[in-house]
Amino acid sequence: MTVDPPWALLAELTHGCPLRCGYCSNPVELTGRSRELGADQWSDVFRQAAALGVVQTHLSGGEPLLRRDLPRIVAAADTAGLYTQLVTSGVGLGDRRMAELVEAGLRSVQLSVQHADPTASERIAGARSFAAKERAARLISASGLPFGLNIVLHRANLDALDELIDLGLAWGADRIELAHTQFHGWALRNRAALLPTREQVERARGVVVRRRELLDGVVELVWVAPDWVEATAKPCMGGWGAVSLTVAPDGTVLPCPAAAALPGLDPPNVRVRELAWIWRESKAFNAYRGESWMPEPCRGCALRSVDHGGCRCQAHALTGDAARTDPACRHAPDHHLVRDPVHGPRTGLAYAHREGAP
Ligand code: FES
Repeated sequence: MTVDPPWALLAELTHGCPLRCGYCSNPVELTGRSRELGADQWSDVFRQAAALGVVQTHLSGGEPLLRRDLPRIVAAADTAGLYTQLVTSGVGLGDRRMAELVEAGLRSVQLSVQHADPTASERIAGARSFAAKERAARLISASGLPFGLNIVLHRANLDALDELIDLGLAWGADRIELAHTQFHGWALRNRAALLPTREQVERARGVVVRRRELLDGVVELVWVAPDWVEATAKPCMGGWGAVSLTVAPDGTVLPCPAAAALPGLDPPNVRVRELAWIWRESKAFNAYRGESWMPEPCRGCALRSVDHGGCRCQAHALTGDAARTDPACRHAPDHHLVRDPVHGPRTGLAYAHREGAP
């Protein structure tokens, strides 16, 4: 099978984070700070990635601003020829840091916010952070770099969509990404509090349609659909081992940030193996690549080349088997695992925050 080159690298520089969002996309087993790759090792990763065909890197975490050597890391990615995007909570971004990052070659920033109301935002994040985000937004906007605002949507903020879009406009975002929570890892633990009702989703979809018309040419509004409520499998990661790779803080290379939880994957590490071998040859990247691994009903489904069978991490989290059809799909044998909670009553909004990195 011919393997096309990847075009994106998610560089998880650390799992440390000042926020404790209960839907964090980091694995439940976090990597300790002492096991993180150093700047020189990241530099080598970027060189290898560029040689492999990668054109852009998302510098993420945790919170990448916790890395004192972040400007060095940005400069290394830029020197390797990669387009760099900082993915940040904004906590820790001051004037000097921003100037250093721009000087190092940073090309764009994605800032997250949890709610338009400061108290609600900090309740969801589990930490004081709203004022820092406001300050970060001012600095990013003033820098002139492309500015994306990312909002993970769930039951506790979906009804505030108009206000969140207004916040993005006030902060000067060029792009507002409204992405529904993905239910595996931390979010699955907090499903009872995070899962929106179908009525909420319908109302929110109406808001997006209305605001898109009004804001045409002003801001880009991106809506990442809630696969559970829509009963469709999402084309997670654009397909397994198809377009992007993730390098975890300790150098483990994964087809997606959550894949560390999948048993038997035996993920390789850049400390031991070349990135090109990992991408093309490793067991981890070939496990669910293409379509030959697919069970029925995916195998005979006309949408298999569109949704790629859905999310492997969600299939594993819900059924215990990553090779089963994603239960979010209405045709999946395990769809009741998604349908029953979506149609069931909702209880409480309290949730457990993410733990800190060890
Ligand atoms: Fe891992 Fe979807 S999050 S495949």
